[in-house]
Amino acid sequence: MESSKVKPLEDGETSEGIIRSASKKSILFIFDTESKMSSFDVCLAYDAGYDAVMLYENVTPKDAERLVQDALFSRGPKGSRFTSFFIGGKDLGKAEAVLEAIKNIKSPQLVSSIIIDPRGAYTTAAAMIAKTEQALLTTKMGKLENKRCIIFGTGPVGKIATVLLGKLGCEVVIASTNPNRLNGKKYIKGVVRLLLKRYDVDIRGVYAPGQKERIHLLREADVVFCAAAPGIQVIDRSILEEIGSEKIMVDVNVVPPLGIEGIKPEDDVREIHPGIFGIGPVTIGRLKCKLEMKILREAREAGEKIYDYELCLKKARSLFKGAH
Ligand SMILES: NC(=O)c1ccc[n+]([C@@H]2O[C@H](COP(=O)([O-])OP(=O)(O)OC[C@H]3O[C@@H](n4cnc5c(N)ncnc54)[C@H](OP(=O)(O)O)[C@@H]3O)[C@@H](O)[C@H]2O)c1
Repeated sequence: MESSKVKPLEDGETSEGIIRSASKKSILFIFDTESKMSSFDVCLAYDAGYDAVMLYENVTPKDAERLVQDALFSRGPKGSRFTSFFIGGKDLGKAEAVLEAIKNIKSPQLVSSIIIDPRGAYTTAAAMIAKTEQALLTTKMGKLENKRCIIFGTGPVGKIATVLLGKLGCEVVIASTNPNRLNGKKYIKGVVRLLLKRYDVDIRGVYAPGQKERIHLLREADVVFCAAAPGIQVIDRSILEEIGSEKIMVDVNVVPPLGIEGIKPEDDVREIHPGIFGIGPVTIGRLKCKLEMKILREAREAGEKIYDYELCLKKARSLFKGAH
């Protein structure tokens, strides 16, 4: 039966016409666009208090549309408030296409919360940026909006951090660091084109496979985000010697060697080199988990919100309210 074509059930009514009390059990449906989804979000969802977490892998926009309609139809308006959807997967484009498909469902019962966090990129990027804003305040370096920022790594985390910083009005450069790319310059041009087209941010891209290019970029930067693959060191000590001071550096790679030599996983705005303050991956990781937990709890209770990267940043900032 095609759920979109039949009259939705009223609260307390089942398809057999039997009246039952409206279910307030909270259910989270996780739609992953990949075949092997991470267990991370499942664990957090149960810890956030969901009564049930249902996983669907290899989800396409069409699948998502059908699954959401079926869930809304079966739960009625009240139950739909306690029904949340979480979109994951490594590919940002695929996850965002799933979100669009759900948003396009024309149903008055779509009062559920939708969280999108492909590969943890939205919450990680939001945590990095909110933490950096706080670090700039504590080090009296001013506001992030006026800063020149460089992001190393063009994976999901690097791309979303770039988008958020671009939307804040920062001067942003995203750099590809992988020396194994066949045509790095062409690749990074493609990344910049994609970010402009999909997210409407005007940023610069540089291929920086070696020390020389990285030093050049770092001399110009006030804030540095290291989001390359796990275990890949992007900035070593000799580079730190060459780039001047008055900088904040954030590293999200928790697998040794870390992305920045000299940074420790738990660093929390520690001076790692004269005039350079570091924030380590465990500090960001804790904040990311706290943020995801907050979002999952809110979504479970409230309904009717779309937790995209912009709302993630707002929520990440709220974690620091009262910190100053
Ligand atoms: N601390 C936390 O809470 C947290 C949460 C989520 C993710 N993370 C970490 O954040 C980082 C970014 O995550 P992601 O999913 O966006 O990244 P990713 O897709 O795993 O990798 C990011 C980039 O690393 C670069 N890379 C791959 N192999 C390389 C090599 N041999 N040499 C140099 N660069 C190489 C790639 O090229 P380009 O440099 O050309 O782009 C890739 O785009 C990862 O280290 C991940 O573990 C941390």
